[in-house]
Amino acid sequence: MGGITAGPVEDYLYSILPPRDEVLREMEAEADRNDVPIVGPAVGRILYQLAVISAAKLIFEMGSAIGYSTIWWARAVGEDGRVVYTDGDPKNASKAKAYFQRAGVSDRIILKTGDALELLSEQKQECDIIFNDVDKDDYPRVFRIALAKLRKGGLFVADNVLWSGKVAQKKPADASTKAILEFNRLLYDSHDLFTTILPIRDGLAVAIKK
Ligand SMILES: C[S@@+](CC[C@H](N)C(=O)[O-])C[C@H]1O[C@@H](n2cnc3c(N)ncnc32)[C@H](O)[C@@H]1O
Repeated sequence: MGGITAGPVEDYLYSILPPRDEVLREMEAEADRNDVPIVGPAVGRILYQLAVISAAKLIFEMGSAIGYSTIWWARAVGEDGRVVYTDGDPKNASKAKAYFQRAGVSDRIILKTGDALELLSEQKQECDIIFNDVDKDDYPRVFRIALAKLRKGGLFVADNVLWSGKVAQKKPADASTKAILEFNRLLYDSHDLFTTILPIRDGLAVAIKK
């Protein structure tokens, strides 16, 4: 799953995870085969916990790919909860749709294709959780759009905020690393948020809106 923790520790963390059901296992295998950068089961469990702890009922996911993280959220929100799936690639959306049916969560998912930033800008109802997993260069722009769409006490969650450890480079050269560095700074500097970066897998930022 490409984690930043020392190899043996990373292996240990994944070795003790309880087995997933058939659908999630199949998605993990597909992601592995086709290099789809899913959050994987260790982070999937955190997403599930965050939604349950905060009793989230409306989650907006930005960058959903084949819908792996979407299913973790959908299972956590319960029958009366909703998760907005977004991805720019219609092929991903059709694969995800089939997985949602098999996972028995289709009724909880609002499937949207297109630019996740535009789709979030059009979102009318305030969200309980916004999950950011789009192209990393766009992270600072997502920050600027997301806060207004989140309810007070809601969670802003972002994946890959340690970017394979590249955030610790002395002179980061690539645009994605620079964008993530800016994003992390924005999160911690914001007076509207209280943020923690969890150094699991590729780094997960969890921020609560004050
Ligand atoms: C890291 S993958 C998402 C993985 C997914 N969250 C999971 O863990 O199962 C990122 C996805 O976001 C999509 N994406 C990237 N930038 C986007 C944007 N601005 N709008 C919509 N989708 C975007 C890509 O097509 C890709 O499928």
